Amino acid sequence: MEVEGILNSAAESYPMNGGDGPHSYTNNSAPQRRLIEASKELIIEAIEEKLEIDSSSCVNGSKAFGIADLGCSVGNNTFIAVHNIIEAVEKKKAKKNDESNSSSLLEFQVFFNDHSNNDFNSLFRSLPYNDSSRSYYAAAVAGSFYGRLFPNSTLHFVNCSFALHWMSKLPKQILDRNSSAWNGNRIHYTSSSNAKVHEAYADEYKNGMKCFLKARAQEIVGGGLMLIVVPAIPTNSNDMSQIPQAFSYGLLESSFSEMVNLGYISEEKVETFNVPHYFPTSKELEAIIKRNGNFSIEIMEILSRKMKFIKSSVEIVVGTMRAAMEELFRQHFGNEVLPHLFQSYTKKVEENLDILDLKFSQHEDLFLILKRKIN
Ligand SMILES: C[S@@+](CC[C@H](N)C(=O)[O-])C[C@H]1O[C@@H](n2cnc3c(N)ncnc32)[C@H](O)[C@@H]1O
Repeated sequence: MEVEGILNSAAESYPMNGGDGPHSYTNNSAPQRRLIEASKELIIEAIEEKLEIDSSSCVNGSKAFGIADLGCSVGNNTFIAVHNIIEAVEKKKAKKNDESNSSSLLEFQVFFNDHSNNDFNSLFRSLPYNDSSRSYYAAAVAGSFYGRLFPNSTLHFVNCSFALHWMSKLPKQILDRNSSAWNGNRIHYTSSSNAKVHEAYADEYKNGMKCFLKARAQEIVGGGLMLIVVPAIPTNSNDMSQIPQAFSYGLLESSFSEMVNLGYISEEKVETFNVPHYFPTSKELEAIIKRNGNFSIEIMEILSRKMKFIKSSVEIVVGTMRAAMEELFRQHFGNEVLPHLFQSYTKKVEENLDILDLKFSQHEDLFLILKRKIN
């Protein structure tokens, strides 16, 4: 029997820095961890009020409760996210047991997913092995979340935190000199004044999200939930040049242009480079989810508005960017230029930290809880 979409075609992949060294994602992901921590109360609320899994036999029967963390990377963030979900499900289950005078227990199976070149060895070495802090069975699932990863109706809760802005691929037109959507020496749509570039990115993002939702609709049980946290752009942003992301990419662009002038890289290398990130507005996401039709949007909030703003430091700005994007730069520009690039970028961040802070304070991260409709 052929299962539709089971082939997980090779997607472009640029893993976060592995291991636990000074430039690793493990040691440079505190801002992402703050989002996970800020999500905790909303997760408890969502699981308490929205999760409907009785009919799937999982809560009352013997089947394991399936959790997947899509784009888990390395380090503690994924363990904190999983721990928060399990704690909330156990709380709900305990309440149900009290009401029905039952003492049945739930078993949890957690799937940690990322691209196959993610540092899964480091991740599994750092798994909490002490039973009191880990009450689940753990497995790695390697592959792109833009394709199928799990059998039909096997997941009860999916978490995808700070990963869906990585596109499955770049739109071809932006690299084509003959196209009106050519992005020249700009490296992202937010720093480009060409609206066609934005359009091309948006179309490619929609294609990717269509595949993502189609796969999850098959894998999540009816009544199960999916949590998405994604960096976004305010719906009313008419002037892209004013959004925080445009400023960060602008600094990187000026580092690249400096390196071209110094002869470290060619102009052509920069013209063929673009960052495969897309930041949707809440309206765009809503439209994409509605078009898929298999999920209801139960909660949609701007998470950053619930968080206290913390001023940045040069170390945090450069450290998080390096841990997340070094591999992308390495694959395109080569290893040897990386020290110059980060040296130049660090200097620019030092000179612009106040503006960056002001921009980051206007940054938006969306928190969504989707429920798989029961057919
Ligand atoms: C910034 S990290 C977020 C890690 C973790 N969720 C957190 O909140 O700290 C984004 C992760 O998503 C992964 N990722 C991006 N695109 C992916 C895809 N198509 N399939 C699976 N993982 C993907 C990256 O490899 C990376 O590890």
